[in-house]
Amino acid sequence: MANPLAGKKVLLGVTGSIAAYKAAEIASQLTQIGAIVDVVLTESAVKFISPLTFQSLTGRKAYVDADLWGGEGHVTHVGLGRAADLLLIAPVSANTLARLAYGFGDNLLVLTALASHCPMLLAPAMDVGMFEHPATQASVKILEQRGVHFIGPAEGYLASGLVGRGRMVEPLEVIGAARWLLSRKGPLAGKKVVVTAGGTQEPIDPVRLITNRSSGKQGHAIVQAAQDAGADVTLISTTNLTAPINTNLIHVQTVADMHAAVMKESAGSDLLIMAAAPADFRPAHKAADKIKKENGPPAIEMVPTIDILLAVAEERGKSGWPKKVIGFAAESRDLLDNASAKLKRKNLDMIVANDISQPDSGFEVDMNRVTFIFSDGTADPQPKMSKHEVADAIIDRAVVWFQTK
Ligand code: CTP
Repeated sequence: MANPLAGKKVLLGVTGSIAAYKAAEIASQLTQIGAIVDVVLTESAVKFISPLTFQSLTGRKAYVDADLWGGEGHVTHVGLGRAADLLLIAPVSANTLARLAYGFGDNLLVLTALASHCPMLLAPAMDVGMFEHPATQASVKILEQRGVHFIGPAEGYLASGLVGRGRMVEPLEVIGAARWLLSRKGPLAGKKVVVTAGGTQEPIDPVRLITNRSSGKQGHAIVQAAQDAGADVTLISTTNLTAPINTNLIHVQTVADMHAAVMKESAGSDLLIMAAAPADFRPAHKAADKIKKENGPPAIEMVPTIDILLAVAEERGKSGWPKKVIGFAAESRDLLDNASAKLKRKNLDMIVANDISQPDSGFEVDMNRVTFIFSDGTADPQPKMSKHEVADAIIDRAVVWFQTK
């Protein structure tokens, strides 16, 4: 699944706010991930940042109000507005919010907005109190009712030295919101996908725990790929990695927590992808107090944890949910035999057999060497790929399943 911004025309509006300097980073990042970025600066934006900055970053002309009356004459705004797949204004000032809400056409940016038919995403930036002001809130309400999307503003330090709500969210978050917005009509639109990620942590005492080397990177990459395909994604994760915007994130620690979350979230779901590495054993008891070393090495009694995928298989037999299940198998030897046995035992539609015998792929690194094995016994070995590429390949399979259903 290609990222939904690749090849898309993004019209990036920049208005008069000190956060305009962050728009340069947005233009740069968007261009790097394959979007075609046309920038329109308002007169006050030009006081903060030069059109040349954007032209240098996007390799395309950056537009200012003078272009409204220049070469292309009165149709500049219509051309820009109608060609755009997304109109993103970041930062958007209180002034431009009001102009957009009431349909003003007194500069190139708001005229372009009037001429556009695409989704609109606004990232407000203004000083403390201005966003909460009833006038601004009225503009926000009008725009929201019209289907306009907002990202932020966030709480934080403002240029005035005051702290409050008004800060533009960081460029990566703006881009995440744009990516999400453009993915909504993808082939998994309306599908509910549940993904687990990371190694579980089983407590020994209040400070010590048993965990494993799973970083959660593969699971997080799958979340992004599923969202890019249009799915509504729930991520059940043990890690502190940032989840893509609009992910329903459930943070868990132990296998018991993960089991409870998976069973709850799988109800009515279309696809469960168990990329997490739940512990197979846990300490039988968590010591109430920190174990002291004076008492010598402790004997920790271990008991088996619940096998989540086996519990899911049982539930699926009764309710039919989740419709499809993908598991992972991390193997250091007899990859295909071991993984195929797990696929059968856990009644999976597909297992991603992960070869962890090589130091350059598997746990903690960015590359994986995997083979997809299916319930009909076929195996499809994949080349060594990044975890993002593995995620895309997995989601491509899921897309085929749901398209042929
Ligand atoms: N898994 C699970 N619940 C557990 C342990 C594992 O649902 N308590 C899932 C993992 O998320 C993975 C799949 O089962 O998708 C395979 O996990 P693995 O630990 O390799 O399988 P085991 O059957 O426990 O085999 P092994 O002897 O290799 O540990």
